[in-house]
Amino acid sequence: MEIRKARKEDLEQIRNIYAQWYTDESTGKPSEEDISYFTKKIEDAISKTEASLQSDYYCLVAENEKGKIIGILGLRKPHHKLLPFTTTTNAMEIYSLFALERNMGVGRALVHTLKNTAAIKKYKEIIVLSANRWKESWPFYDALSFERIGTLAESNGKYSQLWHILI
Ligand SMILES: CC(C)(COP(=O)(O)OP(=O)(O)OC[C@H]1O[C@@H](n2cnc3c(N)ncnc32)[C@H](O)[C@@H]1OP(=O)(O)O)[C@@H](O)C(=O)NCCC(=O)NCCS
Repeated sequence: MEIRKARKEDLEQIRNIYAQWYTDESTGKPSEEDISYFTKKIEDAISKTEASLQSDYYCLVAENEKGKIIGILGLRKPHHKLLPFTTTTNAMEIYSLFALERNMGVGRALVHTLKNTAAIKKYKEIIVLSANRWKESWPFYDALSFERIGTLAESNGKYSQLWHILI
C-alpha cells in the first residue's frame, strides 16, 4: 500500500468511497448531497482553489498494489467551532477519513503519513470531530492514541466526539 497526495485522476474512485459510506440513514440509498460536497472539497484541494488554499485543504489517499484507491484522508485548518478545543495555536483538522474496507490497516497508515505531513507543514496538533453516525469507528481514534477532549451537541439531540493528538 502506498500513501500519497491525491491526484485529479483519483476523483472518481474517491467519489466511490464516499458513496459507500454516505448513505441516507432512513432509506439506505447513497446520499448524493454529501457525496458531491466531500468530493468537491477534494477536487478544490487538488486544483488549489483560493478558498482551499486559505484553509490549507490537503488530501492523502491510500493506493493498493493494483493501483486501486482504498482510503482517503482530508485535512484543513480547523473549523472555527473546533478552535476552543485546541491546545496549541497551530492545529489541523482531519475532516474526512474513510477506508474502502475496514480493519485492513488503511486508516492507521493514512494517519501515520498524516503525522509526517503535519510535522513538515509545521503543525503541532491534529484535531478530529466525529459525528454520532460514525460512532462505531470511535475506538479507532482511541487505538491510535488520540485523546478525547470534548463533545459537541448535534441538532438531532445526539453528540459528536472530539479528539486531539500533539505532534
Ligand atoms: C474509521 C476507519 C477510517 C478506520 O480505518 P481502518 O482501516 O478500518 O482501521 P485500521 O485497520 O487501520 O485499524 C487501526 C487500529 O484501530 C482499531 N480499530 C479500527 N476500527 C475499529 C473499531 N471500529 N472498533 C475498535 N477498534 C478499531 C484496529 O483494531 C486497529 O488496532 P490494532 O492495530 O491495535 O489492531 C474505517 O474503519 C472506516 O472508514 N470506517 C467507516 C467510516 C468512518 O466511520 N469514518 C470515520 C469518520 S470520523
